[in-house]
Amino acid sequence: MLARSRSGDLQCPQAVFGFADMILVLGSINLDLVQRVPRLPRPGETIGGEDLRLFVGGKGANQACAAARLGGQVRFAGKTGTDALALRLRAELRDSGVDCCLLSQADGASGTAIILVLPSGENVIVLAPGANGRVDAEFGLAAVEQLAPGDLLLCQLEIPLETVSAALHAAHQRGVRTILDPAPARNLPGEVLEAVSFLTPNQSEAALLAGRQRPVEHMGEAEEMAKLLLQRGAATVIVKMGAQGCLMASKASGQPAITIASGFAVEVVDSTAAGDTFNGALAVALSEQQPLQRALRFANAAAALSVTRAGAISALPDREQVERFLTPQQSR
Ligand code: RIB
Repeated sequence: MLARSRSGDLQCPQAVFGFADMILVLGSINLDLVQRVPRLPRPGETIGGEDLRLFVGGKGANQACAAARLGGQVRFAGKTGTDALALRLRAELRDSGVDCCLLSQADGASGTAIILVLPSGENVIVLAPGANGRVDAEFGLAAVEQLAPGDLLLCQLEIPLETVSAALHAAHQRGVRTILDPAPARNLPGEVLEAVSFLTPNQSEAALLAGRQRPVEHMGEAEEMAKLLLQRGAATVIVKMGAQGCLMASKASGQPAITIASGFAVEVVDSTAAGDTFNGALAVALSEQQPLQRALRFANAAAALSVTRAGAISALPDREQVERFLTPQQSR
């Protein structure tokens, strides 16, 4: 049976709704134009780089595909444009096993990202939001209406903040666990954080949200920032620390409970979407009710594997690869 939702004319198979482990990713989808460069050009300068490569990306789509490849039951809610890119963007989600019944279109251009990748694997990104900018609150609320207690909502900040805020609050009220990846970095009002079950900033996002100038560099600082963010309203904060791993702080009676999960040393080819992979993997682990320490380890491993390959969705590992990667490490 099909249910008509208020998200435009979109229809979703009703039979799928009501699974306790549904992961709804509400967010962006982009075409990434990626070029490897020896260094960043200065203003007015032209430099040579490697051949341009096109990948499907966008933090929302990356996280949805990451979760689906790792075995999650994933639905993506977002918008492509009406341009020639739309078909390719949709196909990539579908081919990764993501349910696209809440993927809509907005007149005009799809989202795009120009990404320069340095020899270190670090990148710089220039975003053109396109249709992502037209994912409005009504659309987001309609998508969340389909969720049941126990489901998960995963959001990022490449769609309008009022949409993210409305969806998080609606989900929270329905007993749905919420994950917010606060990327790209921006300041967030406390009222947004109050609806977040798991806040997953990286080192610079954690510092910005906690009102600090310098990025977080070591676990001691991560703990300090995480505690501040708990005070600002999030129920649990997970600071992603790259190769160092991650630190989780959760509200508890008395002192916050702190858990650290070590990272993995790998050869970095391209760090694009490492954070997205972490979030997708975390959502899967939570949807499977994995113990939190194991969930963090699983997410660290998936993120580590993603940086060993080029691109965003093209770099995502599948479940078997992550399990295999973790097996020898467990005996250390
Ligand atoms: O997190 C990586 C993503 O950020 C890229 O895929 C790009 O589209 C930007 O949204």
